[in-house]
Amino acid sequence: MGKLSKKQRAAERLQENIAVLRCPICHEDVTLKDQQNIICPNRHVFDLAKQGYLNMAKQSQSTIYDTSLFSARQRLNDAGFYQPLVNQLDQELADLAPKTVLDAGCGEGSHLQQLNKRRQIPFPVGIDLAKEGIRQAAKHDEDVQWIVADLANIPMDNQSVDVLLNILSPSNYAEFERVLADDGVVIKVVPNQGYLKELRQQLDQTDYSNNDVVDRFRESFDIIRKQRVVAQQHLSEAMFQDLIQMTPLTQDADLNQLSYTQHVTLDLTVLVGQKKLKIKKSLR
Ligand SMILES: C[S@@+](CC[C@H](N)C(=O)[O-])C[C@H]1O[C@@H](n2cnc3c(N)ncnc32)[C@H](O)[C@@H]1O
Ligand SMILES: [Zn+2]
Repeated sequence: MGKLSKKQRAAERLQENIAVLRCPICHEDVTLKDQQNIICPNRHVFDLAKQGYLNMAKQSQSTIYDTSLFSARQRLNDAGFYQPLVNQLDQELADLAPKTVLDAGCGEGSHLQQLNKRRQIPFPVGIDLAKEGIRQAAKHDEDVQWIVADLANIPMDNQSVDVLLNILSPSNYAEFERVLADDGVVIKVVPNQGYLKELRQQLDQTDYSNNDVVDRFRESFDIIRKQRVVAQQHLSEAMFQDLIQMTPLTQDADLNQLSYTQHVTLDLTVLVGQKKLKIKKSLR
């Protein structure tokens, strides 16, 4: 028997987990049709690409994130720049043994890929609105279900997610609360003031604070743990070039004006939240 194609593998995985997905347009349940696409009772159809990813965005959207940015991000991940973060996330997953893990805003997918390699998650799902990121993720990994989708309209059922990762990406807490199981956790990673400070200093962007972001998270979820991940990372010149290409910090900057620094600071906060307990009012 020959090796299954990426698309066939994805179709098998989707068949097993189809109950978790829903149509992003009418929110009805979906079924897999002819191992080719996903369809809902109202005939909204979403294609399964030959690389095994699904396209479930209502309409494609262009973002600042393009192929070269995601390639730079991937090389930097491969070189271990974010390894201390992945180690911390891995520890968080260790005690949870989750079945469905959603990475909302997964980019080119390196973090979820690495976590899945270590933990063998039964149903890992990475979504991003940038098709280039998802295409690249699917090219390198066929064990995760990659989906082009909006994190403000997640194509998954209510309470279907055990762990929701949201790493250096925008959030939609109402939507995160909807898809999260009652005993699930949200793990949000936010930058601290020291994150990439060697770049921020050169760009005159040092007055960043994450207080508002943390406050908004706290309004939606009970914070059960807050961990700081801080490390001085050594960068080769090639890695430095990748770093300045891949970070939104340099979006409006003239990259030629930035000078190489050998050490760059990784300084992040990992917030672990649970759904807030709803006090049930007695009907009497
Ligand atoms: C700074 S990148 C972080 C990517 C990845 N989590 C990482 O740490 O490498 C932010 C990501 O959020 C994605 N994004 C922004 N808005 C989104 C939305 N509404 N739905 C899904 N993804 C979104 C972008 O396309 C981008 O890939
Ligand atoms: Zn539909």
